[in-house]
Amino acid sequence: MIGSIFSKIFSFIRFILSYIPVLIYNKIYSVYLTRYSYIDMADQWKGNEKNFKRILDVGVGTGHPLYSIIDRIPKSVQVTGIDIDTNYIPAAKKIFSQHPNVEIKYMNFYDMEKENSQKYDVIIFSSSFMLMPDRVKALEIAKNLLADNGKIYFLMTLFQKKGIIQEMAGKVKPYLKYLTSIDFGQITYENEFTNVMKENGMNISYMKRLTSKTNLFLNTFRFFVVETNKA
Ligand SMILES: C[S@@+](CC[C@H](N)C(=O)[O-])C[C@H]1O[C@@H](n2cnc3c(N)ncnc32)[C@H](O)[C@@H]1O
Repeated sequence: MIGSIFSKIFSFIRFILSYIPVLIYNKIYSVYLTRYSYIDMADQWKGNEKNFKRILDVGVGTGHPLYSIIDRIPKSVQVTGIDIDTNYIPAAKKIFSQHPNVEIKYMNFYDMEKENSQKYDVIIFSSSFMLMPDRVKALEIAKNLLADNGKIYFLMTLFQKKGIIQEMAGKVKPYLKYLTSIDFGQITYENEFTNVMKENGMNISYMKRLTSKTNLFLNTFRFFVVETNKA
C-alpha cells in the first residue's frame, strides 16, 4: 500500500520534471536565442524557398524556433523535423498539428545514413551539431542527403578562443545537464568549426554573429548563423 503511494508520488515527480526541458526551450532558449537565428536563416533564402522541395531540421527540439518561420515556407515544401529526445517530440507534433506539410519523427540523425531516396534543399543543425559525437560522420551523412545546390545551415554558439569563461562553461555544462536533463553539447570554437567545414569539402557562403542592442542573452552566447554548401 505505502509502496504503491510512493511509486505514484515518484511517477508524478518524474512527470513534472520531464516538462522542465520543454519549458526551458520554449520560454527561454528558443524565445531569446534560436528564434532569431531561424529568422536570419530564412532571410538568406531570398525568395528561393518557392523552389525548395524538402527541408530537414536535425534536432528539431520542441519545434518552437522552426514554428517561428513556418509561414515563410510554402505549403508545397515537405518539412521533416527529427529528434532523439522523447520529451520534445509530443510538443513538436502538437505545435505543427495544423501543418500537414510538417512531419516530426523520433529518429537519430546517424540512422539517416541508410536513407538515400530523399534529398533535401535545406538541412538545419540548430544547436544540434555540437551534440553529435562524430561530427565528421554527421557532416558526411548531411552532404549525402543534400540536393543539388542544397545548403546546410548551422545555427549555434561559437566561442572565439579558449579562456577562463570557456573553461568554466565546459565545467558547468555537465551540471546543467544533470539539473535540467538538457545536453548543451561540447564547447565549439570558431576556428575549429571553420576548419572542420573546409577539411570536409564544405564552402562557407555566409557567416554572421547575431547581436542585439536589447537582447543580452543573444550577445552573451556568441550565436551564429552559418550557411554552407558543397565546395
Ligand atoms: C540544443 S537542442 C536545440 C533544439 C532546437 N533545434 C532549437 O534550436 O531550439 C538540440 C537538439 O538536438 C537533438 N539531437 C541531438 N543529437 C541528435 C541526433 N543524433 N539525432 C537527432 N536529434 C539529435 C537533441 O535531442 C535536442 O533536442
